[in-house]
Amino acid sequence: MKIFDTHAHYDDRAFLGEQEFLLRQMHREGIEYIVNIGCSMESSRVITELVKQYDFLYGTAGVHPEDAGTMTEEDLAELEELCKADKILAIGEIGLDYHYDEPPKEIQKKWFVCQLDLAKRVKLPVVIHSRDAAKDTLDIMKAEHAGQTNGVIHCFSYGVELAREYLDMGYYIGIGGVVTFKNGRKLKEVAEYTPLDRIVLETDAPYLAPVPFRGKRNCSLYLRYVAEEIAGIKGISTEEVCEATFENAKRLYNILD
Ligand code: NI
Repeated sequence: MKIFDTHAHYDDRAFLGEQEFLLRQMHREGIEYIVNIGCSMESSRVITELVKQYDFLYGTAGVHPEDAGTMTEEDLAELEELCKADKILAIGEIGLDYHYDEPPKEIQKKWFVCQLDLAKRVKLPVVIHSRDAAKDTLDIMKAEHAGQTNGVIHCFSYGVELAREYLDMGYYIGIGGVVTFKNGRKLKEVAEYTPLDRIVLETDAPYLAPVPFRGKRNCSLYLRYVAEEIAGIKGISTEEVCEATFENAKRLYNILD
C-alpha cells in the first residue's frame, strides 16, 4: 500500500538526531513520497538542501502567517529564487491564522497576497494554512487566486459549506489526524462530503498525530490510521483511499512518473 504524505515538517526540532533514521524507515515501510513544507525563510532554505538527500522527499518554500510579522521584500525576492530550486514543488505554507493576536491581520493579509502572487508568477501550486480566519481567507482566495494554479487547503478545519467553496474553485482538501479525533465531527462530515478524487492525506508531523497516538509526536507511518478512518466514513477499503489520495497528491504537486 503506497502512501503519499503531502504535508510534514521533518526539519522540525522534534526530529533532531532521528531525522535520517526515521525518514529511511518510513520510506521502507510504504511511505512513497513526502513533501516537507516550508514555514519560514529559515526552514525554506533548509528544505532546499534537505530534499537533495532523499529521492522520495520533496519540498515547498513559503512563510507561514505566524512568521509573516518579520517578512520583508528581500525575503519575497529570496523566496522567488528558492522556489526555483530542484524538487521544490509549491509555495507554502501561506495563509491567515487569527488564533493568536499576532502578527496583526493586515500584515498577515499583505504577505499572503504577495505569496499568492508569487505562486501565480512562477506557476506553482499553493499550500494554504487557514485557522480561525474563514472569511478573510476565502475572500482573498476568491479575489486573488481562484483557479489560477493548483492548491490544497491544508489541515482543513472548517465545515462542509466552506469545503464546497474551495472544491468549486478547484482546490484539494488536506485531511490528517484530526479526522480520527472524537471531537473531529466537523472534519468527518467534510471527509464524507468531499469526493475521493479531491482529498489528500497529510500528517503535519510532528503535530496532530491520529488516534491512538494523539498527543504524541506524529510521523508519516501513522497516515494508515487516517486512511482507515476516511475509508470507514466513505464505506470503501483503506487501499482505495491510499491509492486515490496518492494519485491526487501527484496531480496536486505536478509529479509526473
Ligand atoms: Ni504545517
